[in-house]
Amino acid sequence: MSGRIDDLLSRMTWDEKLGQLQIVFRPNPDDAAALVRRGVGSTFWPPSAAATNTLQRVAVEETRLGIPLLVGLDVIHGQRTIAPIPLAQAAAFDPELVRSLAYLAASEARSGGVTWTFSPMADVSRDPRWGRVSEGFGEDPLLTSLLVTAMVQGYQGDDLSAPDAIAATAKHFVGYGAGEGGRDYNGADLSERALRTVHLPPFEAAVRAGAASVMAAFTSVSGIPMHAHRRLLTDVLKREWGFDGVVVGDAEGVANLVPHGVASDVADAVRQSYAAGLDVEMGGAPLALTADDLAPGRLDPARIDDAVRRVLRMKEALGLFENPYVDPTAEITAPDADSRALVRAAAARGSVLLHNDGILPLGEPRRLLLTGPYATSTDHLGAWVQFFGAHAGSVADELRARRPELDTVIEEGVDFLSGDDAGIAAAVEAARGAEVAVVLAGEPSALSGEAASRSDLRLPGRQEDLIRAVAATGTPTVVLLVTGRPLVVTDWIDEVAATVVVWHGGTEAPAAVVDLLLGVAEPAGRLPMSFPRSVGQVPIHYAHENTGRPAATGGTLTAHHHDVGLHGPGNVQDKYTSKYLDLPLGPRFSFGHGSGYARFTHAEPRVSASVFPADGPGDETVLTVTVAVTNTSDRRGDEVVQVFARDVVASTTQPVRRLVGFARKTVDAGDTATVTIPVRREALALWSDGWTVEPGAFELHVGSTLETTRMVTVVAE
Ligand code: GLC
Repeated sequence: MSGRIDDLLSRMTWDEKLGQLQIVFRPNPDDAAALVRRGVGSTFWPPSAAATNTLQRVAVEETRLGIPLLVGLDVIHGQRTIAPIPLAQAAAFDPELVRSLAYLAASEARSGGVTWTFSPMADVSRDPRWGRVSEGFGEDPLLTSLLVTAMVQGYQGDDLSAPDAIAATAKHFVGYGAGEGGRDYNGADLSERALRTVHLPPFEAAVRAGAASVMAAFTSVSGIPMHAHRRLLTDVLKREWGFDGVVVGDAEGVANLVPHGVASDVADAVRQSYAAGLDVEMGGAPLALTADDLAPGRLDPARIDDAVRRVLRMKEALGLFENPYVDPTAEITAPDADSRALVRAAAARGSVLLHNDGILPLGEPRRLLLTGPYATSTDHLGAWVQFFGAHAGSVADELRARRPELDTVIEEGVDFLSGDDAGIAAAVEAARGAEVAVVLAGEPSALSGEAASRSDLRLPGRQEDLIRAVAATGTPTVVLLVTGRPLVVTDWIDEVAATVVVWHGGTEAPAAVVDLLLGVAEPAGRLPMSFPRSVGQVPIHYAHENTGRPAATGGTLTAHHHDVGLHGPGNVQDKYTSKYLDLPLGPRFSFGHGSGYARFTHAEPRVSASVFPADGPGDETVLTVTVAVTNTSDRRGDEVVQVFARDVVASTTQPVRRLVGFARKTVDAGDTATVTIPVRREALALWSDGWTVEPGAFELHVGSTLETTRMVTVVAE
C-alpha cells in the first residue's frame, strides 16, 4: 500500500470523504460534471472513452485533491460483443469459457473507460419465476461458485491496472435469489444453514478470487434489509471473510430502507447503511441531505475513514492515480471476427439438448419450415444489454444465407405474447409440405431480467398451440427454446422429435442456432436449473432433502383411494409420502440434464481412496474420481461427467444429491478418454456452526446426468 492513501485521508475534509462514498447515474454530461466538481467520487459510464476522459479531467483538474473517478457500468454478459446470458454460460459447465467471455467483456469495456462492472451475479436461485435467474448461474452453489470465480478472474486478471481489466462486483449480497413467491425485490426468511450452505458460498468464492467489490441486495433476509444488515455486511463479509474491497449499494437500495419500514427517512437510511458496512451509496441519496444529517457526530468517523480507504485502494489498484485517462483511439466500439467467433461458440456450448429422437442434427432436407416468433426475431441478446451492444440477426436470415439451396419456408404463425392464432393455419399448411419443421419459440428478452417475474412458466402467447398444431401434421418437428429461464414444457414436449434450449444466446445466436441444426456444433450443455413439470412445484431443485417419507411413485389423482380414518381402506401403498397427487415425481428435466449428438458409454467410476480423512483444510483435494468414457458414435463430441455426493447419515438432514465436481471433455469418434474429477473436502462438508466433514459413509454418484449415475461409496474417518 502506498502512503498516498494515508496522505490523502489526512488531508480530506469531511465532505470530500462523503463524496468518495457515492456513485451517481447522470446521463446528462453537464449534470454529471457538476456532481464531480461537488466531489462525487464515482459515476456511471458516459458511453464513450472521450466522454469518460472529459469527466475524469473534471475530477483530476477541477477538484481540490484531484482524486480520479471510478467509472461503473453493468457489463453483465458483454460490452459490445454480447455473449450468451450467464445462465446459458452456466449450462456449458465450462469455467474456462466463462473466464474467457468475461475477459473479452473487460477488454472491450476498459477500452472505453469503464473501470468497474457490477457483475458477476452470484445469487443462487431455485425459482424460475424470478426473471433474474437469467443473470445468474442456476440452482447449485458449487457450480455458481466456480463460475463466479471464473468470471471474476476474467474481468480482473492479475493486475487491475491493466488496460484489459475491470473491477468485478459480486452481487447481490445476499439471498436475493430466494425472494418469496419468486417476486423480484421480495424478502426471504433464511436460516443460518440456508445462508451458509446455499447463498453465501458463491460470495465467499468471489472474495477468495479477489473480487474488488460486493453489491448489497435490495431484499431483506429474515426481516433485516441487506442495505442495513450489519452482521452479514460487516461481521461475515468483512471480518469473518476478510473482505477488504468496497461494498456498494444497489440503485436506490439505501433509500429503499424507508419503504422497507426500517428507516424513518432517507437521512436515517443513509446513516444506517454506512454504519452497517456499506461503503458506497448508489443513487444519490446523500446529495439531498443537509450537512447536519451526515455530520461526524451522526456518522462514525472511523467507519467513514474505513470506507474511504477501501474506495481509494480500489482506485489505486486500478492504476487511476497514475493513469486516469483512456486512449480514445484505442476504444473498441464493435465486435471483431475473434470476438464473434468466441460468443458464437459459447452460444452453442451452452445449449442443452433436452431430447432427440435422432432428427438432430438435420440431414439434408430439401424443404424446411421455420416457424414461431423467433424464426425472424432478432431479439437474441437477453436481459441487461446496453443500447450499444452489437445486435443479432435472425435465424431465418442466417439459415438462408448458409443454405441458399435449401427451400426454407418462413411462417411465424404466432407472435410472442398475444392471443392471436390466426397465423397457425398457414404454418400448419407449410408444415405439411415440409420434410422437417423447426419451431423457434421462447420468451422475448423483456420477460427476463430485473423486475420480470412470471407466475406462469409456459411459453407465452399461443406458442404452445403453434407447436402442437405443427407437430400434429406428422411432419417431424424440432423446437428450439430461446429463453432466459427454465420453462414448463409439459404440454407439448412429448409431441415433438427434439427440443434444444438455446437460451438468449447473444450477438451470434442465430449463427450458433444454425450450427446446431446443421451439426457444425452440438448442444452438449447441461441444465444449470431444473425445468419444472408445473409452476406449482416451484421452488424446485435437485439437492432436496429426502424427507421422512420419500415417495417412490408419483401422485395418482383418483377418486378411488382416500383414507376414511383408522378403519379406512388401509394405508394405500405409497399414499402417505412426499409428492403431489397430480404430478409424477420430480421436475420434467433435472439439473444436470442434457446430452450431445455423440453417444458415450461410461466404465465403472474409480476413486483414488475408499477412505479419506475427515479433518483437514477445506480446499484440500481428498478424493479423485476417474471414469473412462467412450465415444461410441461416428462424430467427435463433448461429454460432461458430474459427481454428486450424498452424506448417508449426518447430524442434520442432508441433500439426496449434491454436486461435488464435474468435467467437460471432448472425445473423438470411437475414442476412450479418462475423465478425472478432483473432490475437495469442503465440497463434502456440512454446516454445523462452522464447516465440518462428519465421519461416516458418503455415496458418490458419477455419470453424465443425475439419471445415469453409477455409485461408489467412500468413508470419511
Ligand atoms: C439495478 C440492479 C443491479 C445493477 C444496478 C445498477 O437495479 O439491481 O444489479 O447493478 O441497478 O444498474
